[in-house]
Amino acid sequence: MDVVLLGPPGAGKGTQAKRLAATFNLLHISTGDLLREEVGKGSELGQQAASYMQKGELVPDDLVAKMLVTRLHSQQGLAGCVFDGYPRTRAQAELLDGLLAELGRRVDVAVYLEVPDDEVVARLGGRRSCPSCGAVYHLRTQPPARDGVCDVCGSQLVVREDDKEEVIRQRLAVYRTHTEPLLELYGGRGVLARVPGQGTPEEVFLRLADAVRGGR
Ligand code: AP5
Ligand code: ZN
Repeated sequence: MDVVLLGPPGAGKGTQAKRLAATFNLLHISTGDLLREEVGKGSELGQQAASYMQKGELVPDDLVAKMLVTRLHSQQGLAGCVFDGYPRTRAQAELLDGLLAELGRRVDVAVYLEVPDDEVVARLGGRRSCPSCGAVYHLRTQPPARDGVCDVCGSQLVVREDDKEEVIRQRLAVYRTHTEPLLELYGGRGVLARVPGQGTPEEVFLRLADAVRGGR
C-alpha cells in the first residue's frame, strides 16, 4: 500500500507519517528530512538544495528525484511507503506514478491533512527539531522531558532555519501555488481522503488511520 500525505507546512505530516509507517509497516519517505540530511553532510546535492530551502522555495525536481529513487529502492520487507512532502508539483506526481508503476504499484490513498493557516503558524512557531535523529517537538503541545534536549537521542534541539516567520509565509505561498492543485488531481482519481488536522496528535492519527484503512 502506498500513501501520499498532503497538507500545508506544519500540518503535522512528519509527526503523523512516522506513526503511520510504524502502524502499517510502511517505509517513511520524507523528502524534507532527506534534503536536510544532505545539507547536514555538506554533499553537493545538499549545497545545491540549501539556498532554495532557506528561502522557502521548492528544490528543483531533478535534485529531489535522485534522492527519492534511492530511498524508494531501499525498501525491503515492508508493505509500501508513506510519502511525506512528496509530491509537491504536478511533475513530481507524474514521476511518482511512473516509479510506482515500474514496481507494479500505485498511489492507493492520498490523505489531505486540513489545518487552517493560523494554526500552522502557531505550530511552526513552537516547533523544535532534533538535528541528529529527526524527532520533532513543540514547546507547548509536545515538549521534550528536559528543556531543549531530545528525548530519543539526547541531542540539543534546534529551530529549523526555515521556521522564521517570513520564510513560513513564503512556504505557505509556494504550497498554495504548486501543491494545492494536487488535491484536484487525486480527487479526480477518487483516491483523496480529507482529514481534519486539528485536535491532539492522537486524535488526528485515529482519523488518518481510518482513512488509510478505507483506501486499502
Ligand atoms: P519539509 O520538511 O517537507 O517541510 P514542510 O512540508 O513545510 O512540512 P514541515 O516539516 O514544516 O511540517 P509537517 O507538516 O511535517 O509538520 P510537523 O509534523 O513537523 O520541506 C522543507 C523544505 O524542503 C521545503 O520548503 C523545500 O524547500 C524542500 N523540499 C522538501 N520536499 C520537497 C519536494 N518534494 N520538492 C521540492 N522541494 C522540497 O509538525 C509541525 C509542528 O506542529 C511540530 O512542532 C509538531 O510537534 C506540532 N504538531 C504536530 N501535530 C500537532 C497537533 N495535532 N496538535 C498540535 N501540534 C502539533
Ligand atoms: Zn534526537
